[in-house]
Amino acid sequence: MTFSGPRILLTAPAHFECVSGRCFFVSIVSPANNLLPTSLPTDNNPMRQVERIPARGTQRSMTTSKNDNKLRWKRRLQSLRFRGKGKPRPHARRTGVESIQSRPIADWFSGKAFSIVHRSNLVYNTCWEDPRLDREALELGPEDVVVVITSAGCNTLDYALDGPKQVHAVDMNPRQNALLELKMAGIRSLDYEDFFQIFGQGHHPQFKRLLRQALMPDLSPFARQYWEKHSNFFTNPKRSFYFCGSSGTVARICNFYMNRKSGLRDEINTLVDATTLEEQREIYERSIRKFFWTGLMKRFVGSDTTLSMLGVPRQQRQQVELHFGGGITEFMEHCLETVLTRLPIHDNYFWRVYLTGSYTRECCPEYLKEDNFQKLKDGLIDRVSVHTNTVEGFLKSTDQKVTRFILLDHMDWLSTYRYPLLVSEWQAIMDAAADQARILFRSGGMKVEFVDPIPVTIDGKQRKAGDLLTYNTELATRLHAVDRVHTYGSFYIADLNRNGSAS
Ligand SMILES: C[S@@+](CC[C@H](N)C(=O)[O-])C[C@H]1O[C@@H](n2cnc3c(N)ncnc32)[C@H](O)[C@@H]1O
Repeated sequence: MTFSGPRILLTAPAHFECVSGRCFFVSIVSPANNLLPTSLPTDNNPMRQVERIPARGTQRSMTTSKNDNKLRWKRRLQSLRFRGKGKPRPHARRTGVESIQSRPIADWFSGKAFSIVHRSNLVYNTCWEDPRLDREALELGPEDVVVVITSAGCNTLDYALDGPKQVHAVDMNPRQNALLELKMAGIRSLDYEDFFQIFGQGHHPQFKRLLRQALMPDLSPFARQYWEKHSNFFTNPKRSFYFCGSSGTVARICNFYMNRKSGLRDEINTLVDATTLEEQREIYERSIRKFFWTGLMKRFVGSDTTLSMLGVPRQQRQQVELHFGGGITEFMEHCLETVLTRLPIHDNYFWRVYLTGSYTRECCPEYLKEDNFQKLKDGLIDRVSVHTNTVEGFLKSTDQKVTRFILLDHMDWLSTYRYPLLVSEWQAIMDAAADQARILFRSGGMKVEFVDPIPVTIDGKQRKAGDLLTYNTELATRLHAVDRVHTYGSFYIADLNRNGSAS
């Protein structure tokens, strides 16, 4: 790789600082693009060498700087390669992800894409995990205190319908929480017809008026500002809310593609209303397999940028490809085929909303059904609270003992480069968990090997998380087989046993 033109763009991941017009590199960025502490290091850890490269045109001669440059590049790539190949990274040994090969430049770029998407966007405009399975696994009762990651908030409202004592919805992306807040304000202050138009059909001609008059008083300052700015998400009948946000934009591009392919739109509309698996299979074989999964669509779906917009960081892609030999595109193809040919489509609101842009009153999340809407309005909604924080940060701030944890697939995000964050998060889970607490999580990977080795301290003793968890594999396998989303490799239901070594 030769470097000409401005160094910033082409340099390896680095933090750039200008002091009185001269620019310096002051630290190295981990492939996950989170800046490592920028304080000047004292130890001579090669990974954190300070490098000062004078800006272009300073007194140093070009020739020497060219060689310096080459030398610096060689050292930088070596250090990154050292992290990727040869001796596995320290935590890789503990977490059994030795075989994940890191490709530093690709990792860096996809990490960058992911953090740009997640730092400034609503990513999930609908929850992409099946709460029907979760509710069966959770067996919620009136004494339960639940912690769930918000995502789009649909599942939080679903769990509240089982009447637990408290549901804490936690997300580090405030826009996700702003969406849940909007739904909660709608349940409290709108009638069902207006509510369903907004969140069922994804647009309402009077949305701006309803927002100002009825919803705003119930929103936090961030949520008010966010929806004031993005009220157009709900005002365009041609572009429903479910085609907004980063996941929604990917769905919109796929729909644009399907509408352009002659006849495919009609086939899709017939498919989502199919009443038998035979009918579904016939349409899938006749149209979807041939006309949807073209080379162009496979490249689009398999690109890291698209995956970032869908909320799938590279670490998660690596988890999928760890055990699924065919790569992520084939994995997605396999998932879609299973959903459209082996699972009944009539109540699959997950795929209906992304294939058509809206729900129906029969095929929609539970909180959107009239009787459930009323139950929430009559009081269950008051058991839900929303927190913008990391899971670890929230658990360290609450003094309630938590009996149920729903961690979604977020641990995939922390499974490699951010493993230390996962370790401290699990310590917080152990500290906040009631005995016999139940923990649910999913992964893109067919098998999760990074949870059980996590070191935790319980009653002053060092233990491994896996020694304290009892997995209900039979139930998880049975439920996972009928998952209506069906884009996860595996599902886990684990009970915490603080005292003994688990079975
Ligand atoms: C991991 S993704 C899961 C999305 C889920 N699969 C879905 O589609 O509904 C969801 C959310 O987790 C949040 N998240 C990820 N790591 C988190 C953490 N450590 N603490 C709190 N929220 C986190 C992200 O901001 C994002 O909104």
